[in-house]
Order: sequence, then C-alpha cells, then structure tokens
Amino acid sequence: MSFLCPRDSGIYCDATVGLGGHARATIERSAPHGRVIGIDRDAEVLKLANENLAPYGDRVRLVHAPFSQIRSVLEQADALPLDGCIADLGVSSVQLDQPERGFSFRRSGPLDMRMDRSQKETAADLLQRVDEEELARLLHDLGEERFARKIARAVARARESGELETTLALSGLVARSVPRREANKDPATRVFQALRIAVNDELGELDRFLQAAPGCLRPGGRLVVIAFHSLEDRMVKRRFRALASGDADAPDSPRFRILTKHVITASDSEVARNPRSRSAKLRAAERLPS
Ligand SMILES: C[S@@+](CC[C@H](N)C(=O)[O-])C[C@H]1O[C@@H](n2cnc3c(N)ncnc32)[C@H](O)[C@@H]1O
Repeated sequence: MSFLCPRDSGIYCDATVGLGGHARATIERSAPHGRVIGIDRDAEVLKLANENLAPYGDRVRLVHAPFSQIRSVLEQADALPLDGCIADLGVSSVQLDQPERGFSFRRSGPLDMRMDRSQKETAADLLQRVDEEELARLLHDLGEERFARKIARAVARARESGELETTLALSGLVARSVPRREANKDPATRVFQALRIAVNDELGELDRFLQAAPGCLRPGGRLVVIAFHSLEDRMVKRRFRALASGDADAPDSPRFRILTKHVITASDSEVARNPRSRSAKLRAAERLPS
C-alpha cells in the first residue's frame, strides 16, 4: 500500500483481486470516494471477493477476465486513466487449498490446475498432448527442474497406462523419479509449478499485462507487481527498466521512474506469519508526466 499510495477519489485496479485483501486495503485508504476495479480470471474466487467486498457497494466493481484484457475492462468500467494498479501474481491460497482444483501436490484431486474453469485444457489434458521432449523442456524452463528429462520419461510411460489422472499419482511418480531430494521441499513442487504456469499461460498473460497496464495509468499513477517466480520477476524488472530508460518498444510509450531500486521481499516476521510470502518479490514504478 505504501507504493500504491491510494488516496481519496482515486481510481485503482487490482488486476488479481483474489479474495480481495489488497482491494479492501485500497478501498479503505481511498475513502470516501475512491474506486477499485477488481479483475480475476477465476469465477469461483470472484464470488468470494464479491462477498468480502460487498460492504463497499458500488465503489468496487469486479470483472471476470484475464488481466491481459486490462485496457478493455477499464474502458468498459469507465475507469481510465488509473491512479494505481496492483498485480499479485500466481494462485491464491483458496485455489491451492481446494483439492478439487488440482493445484496442490499434497491433496488428492483431479489434475486440473485451470484458474479459469471455462478454459478447455486441464493439466491432465496437457500431459496427454505434449510429447516427452516438449514436456522435459517445459519442466526445465518453467519449473527450473533439474531432473526434467527423467520425470518426462516417467510421465510418458505412465500416461500410456492411464495412471496419471490425479495430483497424488503425479506427485508420487515425481518422487519415484528424482534421485535426490532437497531439504524442506517436496520433489513435486517444481513440476506442479511448471504445469500450472503452462496450463494458464501465465508468462504470456504477464507479458501482455506489462505491455498494456503502463498506458492505463495517469502521470503520477503507480504500478505495483508482486511475483513469486524468478521468470516472472525478471519480466517485471526488464519491463520496468525499459519503461524507465525510454527504450520501450513504442516511441510514444509512457516514461516511468522505478520506485524500488532493489526488489522488496517479505520481512522475517511476515514470513513467520505467512510462510507463502517467502518467495514474493515486489517491484513498483510511477508514471512520469509526459
Ligand atoms: C495471489 S492471488 C491474489 C490474492 C489477492 N491479492 C488477495 O488479496 O486476496 C492471485 C489471483 O490472481 C488470479 N490470476 C492469476 N493470473 C491471472 C490473470 N492472468 N488474469 C486474471 N486473474 C489472474 C488468480 O485467479 C488468483 O485469484
């Protein structure tokens, strides 16, 4: 919030509204007239956000959409230009904690992993579609998985016998395929992360968001992004640098100043309270006057 700097009568976008924690903090700090447009591609999560944010009435508007569509969402909500935009990437705790969504390698569920359940391809479909080599590349590139080849081979064998329909079947297979274990890390962590990123085209989404969002801000408006994955954080860092140095693709691209010289991470006490914050990386930038 100290980077987003919400103020009365401002218009803000929470591009990943989730359960509405950031949206609530923003709407309270921008009282009595500030507005928040909350976007999420998960219709089930949005229902919960709707309940949580109901007390703020029409100061909050929720939209089911991928955040790559931010400009058209804001145009339709008559919310341009923005005073600030925040994106808190990845999955929410409620998605992780529901076994039937298939995001967690610790809970038994179908291998689904779609954030938007109206999308066709699930993680199980993806495992059927890609060949062994493509799967190895995907696990290596998106999961930074050292044993990608071994795991891809084991998956290729298992899917022929139809054994790969559930989360626990996959995490068991990964555990049997990797030769060494890391302390305090389930061997399936990277594989699940890679599949989730692929199923939801998370890097493509982020790329399109980072292209579109800066132009939605007014001069002085702020963009705050929290990433949980080094690939995503690198994309944010590079885009912010390009916006600050003026060598962004389009010559009429808005100029920004970077507010976070060094990436911001959670304090020890925050990690103790909320262990999922341990890999969060926050960066913020402010649009300069044109
Ligand atoms: C880490 S959670 C956000 C939690 C939120 N800040 C809160 O306070 O509750 C990320 C949310 O972003 C959503 N999401 C992820 N990628 C998205 C995308 N490309 N477009 C829209 N929503 C997305 C997920 O469905 C999830 O609900």
